[in-house]
Amino acid sequence: MFRTVSPSRTFLRLPLLQLLLLVQAVGRGLGRASPAGGPLEDVVIERYHIPRTCPREVQMGDFVRYHYNGTFEDGKKFDSSYDRSTLVAIVVGVGRLITGMDRGLMGMCVNERRRLIVPPHLGYGSIGVAGLIPPDATLYFDVVLLDVWNKADTVQVSTLLHPAHCPRTVQDSDFVRYHYNGTLLDGTAFDTSYSRGGTYDTYIGSGWLIKGMDQGLLGMCPGERRKIIIPPFLAYGEKGYGTVIPPQASLVFHVLLIDVHNPKDTVQLETLELPPGCVRRAVAGDFMRYHYNGSLMDGTLFDSSYSRNHTYNTYVGRGYIIPGMDQGLQGACMGERRRITIPPHLAYGENGTGRHVPVLAFSAFIKAQVSEGKGRLMPGQDPEKTIADMFQNQDRNQDGKITVEELKLKSDEDQERVHEEL
Ligand SMILES: *[C@@H]1O[C@H](CO)[C@@H](O)[C@H](O)[C@H]1NC(C)=O
Ligand SMILES: *[C@@H]1O[C@H](CO)[C@@H](O)[C@H](O)[C@H]1NC(C)=O
Ligand SMILES: *[C@@H]1O[C@H](CO)[C@@H](O)[C@H](O)[C@H]1NC(C)=O
Ligand SMILES: *[C@@H]1O[C@H](CO)[C@@H](O)[C@H](O)[C@H]1NC(C)=O
Ligand SMILES: *[C@@H]1O[C@H](CO)[C@@H](O)[C@H](O)[C@H]1NC(C)=O
Repeated sequence: MFRTVSPSRTFLRLPLLQLLLLVQAVGRGLGRASPAGGPLEDVVIERYHIPRTCPREVQMGDFVRYHYNGTFEDGKKFDSSYDRSTLVAIVVGVGRLITGMDRGLMGMCVNERRRLIVPPHLGYGSIGVAGLIPPDATLYFDVVLLDVWNKADTVQVSTLLHPAHCPRTVQDSDFVRYHYNGTLLDGTAFDTSYSRGGTYDTYIGSGWLIKGMDQGLLGMCPGERRKIIIPPFLAYGEKGYGTVIPPQASLVFHVLLIDVHNPKDTVQLETLELPPGCVRRAVAGDFMRYHYNGSLMDGTLFDSSYSRNHTYNTYVGRGYIIPGMDQGLQGACMGERRRITIPPHLAYGENGTGRHVPVLAFSAFIKAQVSEGKGRLMPGQDPEKTIADMFQNQDRNQDGKITVEELKLKSDEDQERVHEEL
């Protein structure tokens, strides 16, 4: 029940300001008999459902959203928030509500249910509300708290799971891919990335996201799980969003960051093991045999040479593999272990892998490259066998096709890339 002169249709029609002042002036000390017979001095609070966790209790000056049913002693309903389409958030404890409600909501948890018995002097006093509430009425409210926030709130971030390895964290202007479940503070789900069968992909700090999300994702590691609580003024504010997010609603996001990169990122190299006595470092044009484990930033393994019991054999720096690998393999020594981190624009880009090139086209392409002097086949080996080797590296599911992003046979196009990795 709101003590307000707002003309909003979402409010119970309440007495005019004049009347309110009068109520406040004469209201004190007009307590009526309690159900037990004696006069009620103060509001009686019965907390009949207290949630198991209560991260925050209502304090003076907080904004709250709640549902309530208001009844008289005989059980007759005089007002209910459920009879209106939306609930407006209201600041509590500062006299915008009847005193009984201001006091009765203090210390309440989200999802808590309370019954308040409000004596007349803390309600509408000896005057009541014309046509609605008789004079000297004791009021009974059943209340459930849905939301609590404060203008001083900031985005609350808690890490639920931290990955063992964190190659980099989210910074402003990064491109991120993540999964999320979004709920209101009372647990009502309003959106999830999983319903769309893909991650949510966006730029940070560029105005694509609500402000609170832009802030809440900062510093996050790929593979990290976070809970991000956002006050309404950093989310959808007074308007809410469609039918799913009410006005003035705090939002809770559970986020799993899948990966992060920046269009300005370069290939990152980290030497994990370097045997002593390196005599020669790989240069562009070298034929290399190597083992690798390939994973996405969140640690998901997408490919490994070990699964085929076979090294990966290819020329480096010739465009047969993704550009990031071409760069990342150069300078490597025999026996060296490296971690090579490749941003998408130097890997498979926005479309990932999936298109196919048949074996004959691949063979023709390699031979054309060799004849153009753009690559050499392994000396002393049957070229067909080397090409078959390279192809086998590529053809994971042995269906006679390889997944490359693009393969054109015009060898005069120097910039053409055969994305053979994977
Ligand atoms: C208000 O009454 C309705 C209808 O009986 C009920 O569904 C709802 O749970 C009640 N709300 C509270 C806060 O008790
Ligand atoms: C979202 O909810 C689903 C179902 O409960 C759960 O499997 C998934 O891990 C959740 N995702 C995040 C990011 O919390
Ligand atoms: C790939 O992973 C396997 C299993 O964890 C490990 O034995 C192997 O050394 C890894 N290879 C590289 C190149 O890191
Ligand atoms: C690799 O070798 C192991 C052990 O010899 C064998 O079980 C496995 O099937 C082989 N995998 C492939 C893809 O050949
Ligand atoms: C990705 O696919 C779309 C649609 O097929 C295409 O328009 C776009 O050019 C592709 N992008 C790249 C980098 O290949």
